[in-house]
Amino acid sequence: MLDAVREVQATQAGDLAVRWNCKAGKCGSCSAEVNGIPRLMCMTRLDGLPTGEPVTVGPMRSFPLIRDLVTDVSFNYEKAAGIPSFQPVPAGADGKRRMYQEDVERIQEFHRCIECFLCQNTCHVVRDHADLRPHYSGPRSFVRIAALEMHPLDAGDRLPLLKDGAGIGLCNVTKCCTEVCPEQIRITDNAIIPLKERVADRYYDPIAAFLRCFKRTP
Ligand code: SF4
Ligand code: F3S
Ligand code: FES
Repeated sequence: MLDAVREVQATQAGDLAVRWNCKAGKCGSCSAEVNGIPRLMCMTRLDGLPTGEPVTVGPMRSFPLIRDLVTDVSFNYEKAAGIPSFQPVPAGADGKRRMYQEDVERIQEFHRCIECFLCQNTCHVVRDHADLRPHYSGPRSFVRIAALEMHPLDAGDRLPLLKDGAGIGLCNVTKCCTEVCPEQIRITDNAIIPLKERVADRYYDPIAAFLRCFKRTP
């Protein structure tokens, strides 16, 4: 699809605005909607689309249009800037920090994110509820927060952000974000649901709150 768009740019519309870089599905630049479905253009084969029908390609509709196929995705960077960064736990008595391999592997998939923002574009809370955007960060942010919160050597606490500023409670687990992720990150099952459980344990579980009172007692 990207080659077809560039062919149109080269032969029929020299000023067509389209963003791309790697042509290999790794830079996340060429996100668009092909026949209304959020996809990376460079990874969409024309021969995989229905034949005998027009093919439509348009910009991601959840973000302000700059021109043609290029949108302003700064919303996502603003949300990322508000996430507390990695805070290492203190080193052990031998001056080293250790982690188990299974903990390392658990967060690996989150680091595959290429910031294409197709998940953000698809999430109905971002897409259809502009009024909620100040209070909701969306699935890409939840993946980033999960990578930090589940990091075995991180001591940060992002649960207050998740509950309030990032609005994870507004996600009703439709899984549309997972379906469009070109990196096959299991956004809902592996990031959002475990984060929701942590928020519920912290803020809404009376037994856990009761036990925390004992933990604080000297
Ligand atoms: Fe793209 Fe997947 Fe990252 Fe969302 S989580 S920005 S869909 S790579
Ligand atoms: Fe949106 Fe994904 Fe939740 S599409 S509603 S963030 S499961
Ligand atoms: Fe890099 Fe498509 S051009 S992901």
